[in-house]
Amino acid sequence: MKNLPAIRTLAWAWLTLFQLLACGTALAQELTDAQRSAYRRPDTIPFPKDNPYTPAKAALGKMLFFDTRLSRDNNLSCASCHNPSFGWEVPFAKAIGAGGKPLGRHAPTALNQAWSRNLFWDGRAASLEAQAKGPIEAPVEMDLPLKVAVGRLKSVQGYVAAFAKAYPNEGITEETIPKAIASYERTIVTGDTPFDRWVRGDTRAISDSAKRGFAVFNGKGNCATCHSGWNFTDDKFHDIGITMTDKGRMGVTGSTADAHAFKTPSLRETAARAPYMHDGSLSTLTAVIGHYIGGGPARPSLSPLMKPLKLEGQEIQDLEAFMRSLSSPQTMIAMPNLPAN
Ligand code: HEC
Ligand code: HEC
Repeated sequence: MKNLPAIRTLAWAWLTLFQLLACGTALAQELTDAQRSAYRRPDTIPFPKDNPYTPAKAALGKMLFFDTRLSRDNNLSCASCHNPSFGWEVPFAKAIGAGGKPLGRHAPTALNQAWSRNLFWDGRAASLEAQAKGPIEAPVEMDLPLKVAVGRLKSVQGYVAAFAKAYPNEGITEETIPKAIASYERTIVTGDTPFDRWVRGDTRAISDSAKRGFAVFNGKGNCATCHSGWNFTDDKFHDIGITMTDKGRMGVTGSTADAHAFKTPSLRETAARAPYMHDGSLSTLTAVIGHYIGGGPARPSLSPLMKPLKLEGQEIQDLEAFMRSLSSPQTMIAMPNLPAN
């Protein structure tokens, strides 16, 4: 019986290990206080000082967002490529622009852009006001010079009245058109999701699988380093190894360190927004996770945060379940009534 103490020690060690594991699982499944505050949705939308919110501006901006008369051929509106039915984008790799030709990059979502400091995949616009001019005038998109747009809108009595209400001292100008659109865009915000209810303390709001997936997202998967905070983006640019051709952010800064770097997209409503990436090259969330497991091609511009991952089948499923918990219930978007010519 002289082995008894050894057996006792062994039994004690097993028990401790078991408790540690159980405790570890419990910790992985609920949020820490720091996470609760980092992931809480904000209560207000930020609006800039030089274009503060008014209901009249947002209502006018909504009209313009859905009005095809802002395109040369009267056939494209912002909503043609940022369609609320498809998570405010389109369900194919490249949106179709002027003359029926596909664009060079995938249309990103219009959701939650009020919080973006950098607009476009390569961040070439610094505000929604500056961004909105781009697609109206771009020959490959709506192809309508702003000067012509101003003339067209001035000939529509309903628009003259709506601009007078929204911008009383300015009326219809090349500045107030994008300003009104930007005001509406800031109101395009993702809804309350099961994940948000979990953050607020409802422990049953998401499945155990999604909770484990959140742990992978923050831990082993290293996803939260770039997809950080309540909107799941650091608003920065990274080369995660998707493209060999598109230079991305380097086209703006000229720096080779920015080669193939693109803005980190928000992951809210991601399940409704396939296909993925700046070129729409990955068609499912499983394919996206597969890409991260591979880690991307070794090259100087590849983010040092990209490392091949060892994720098992269950962890992959959990990660996907977590991303699906970032979807809100379907909402109805009422189409605006547009003034006749
Ligand atoms: C023909 C399709 C098309 C039309 C029409 C269009 N867009 Fe886009 N939009 C895109 C594409 C593609 C991109 C990404 C381009 C890039 O990053 O180089 C984009 C980018 C954006 C972004 C940046 C999002 C981000 O993540 O940074 C916003 C905001 C936006 N568009 C709003 C608008 C508005 C407002 C209109 C109408 C005035 C409009 N778009 C019209 C296809 C379109
Ligand atoms: C180094 C920063 C970084 C890390 C780490 C990272 N991402 Fe990303 N993620 C990005 C960038 C940048 C893009 C867009 C890349 C592009 O289009 O070329 C992206 C795109 C995505 C998309 C597509 C979203 C869309 O709307 O097209 C999903 C989904 C995604 N990431 C999930 C994840 C998951 C899950 C992990 C962890 C396994 C992860 N990301 C790790 C930066 C990162």
